[in-house]
Amino acid sequence: MRKYGSASAWFFLITICITIYSCKHDIPEATTGDVCFESEILPIFQSSCAKSGCHNQGSAAEGYILDSYQNIMNTGDNDGIVPFNADKSEIIESILENDPDKQMPPPGSPGLTTEQINRLIAWVNEGAPNTVGCNSSVCDTTTFLYSANVKPIIDTYCTGCHSGNTPSAGINVCTHSGLAAIAADGSLLGSINHTGSFSAMPQNSAQLDLCSRTVIAKWVQAGALNN
Ligand code: HEC
Repeated sequence: MRKYGSASAWFFLITICITIYSCKHDIPEATTGDVCFESEILPIFQSSCAKSGCHNQGSAAEGYILDSYQNIMNTGDNDGIVPFNADKSEIIESILENDPDKQMPPPGSPGLTTEQINRLIAWVNEGAPNTVGCNSSVCDTTTFLYSANVKPIIDTYCTGCHSGNTPSAGINVCTHSGLAAIAADGSLLGSINHTGSFSAMPQNSAQLDLCSRTVIAKWVQAGALNN
């Protein structure tokens, strides 16, 4: 009886050790909030997915509403985003899909860049946290080059609507020349600063942070060069 007791105690101890050890391995390493939901992930959903006729409140195609953190996490059958598991997340699966009938965004719409896809996957594998107020560290108003500073902001907040086969308002901001055209007629700064009679952009989303607007304004004032 006594012998049995100590054997089961050992068994218990070993089980605990294995459990602790395996739990340790289950915790992903990148929980440092490396990806910023508010400034990197939400704008991708808002400009590429939460459009009229697609996944905004009114349309909710396939039951998916992708306009806010709450909706992104609770949409579909709750498996749109599976925290810590990009492989099991339906939304990630649809973005990586090769079948044109299932692919998101659908063929003809502006696709996501490889960088955007990588950030989405990293965010899910970090646990898909609702990280906010974390954009100031990545934005610096002292450099305002087109390719290094301006284009990444435009790609994040604007190209989802303003590129592809049928860009909104006929404005394509994918290329330098397209963006330079709206820089020249004043509508770029008017729309992002919410001044004049221009429509507020990005449409149906929060205004761009001050740092991003400053970078774009400095680039426009310096001649909107392709630098
Ligand atoms: C969710 C889709 C969507 C996003 C994201 C979006 N736009 Fe627009 N944009 C539109 C639509 C639709 C129109 C035309 C209707 C209107 O003017 O409101 C438009 C119009 C414009 C206009 C013309 C405005 C005017 O009054 O002449 C400019 C300039 C513009 N967008 C720039 C931008 C910029 C820059 C961004 C990114 C910071 C952006 N848009 C993000 C959908 C979008």
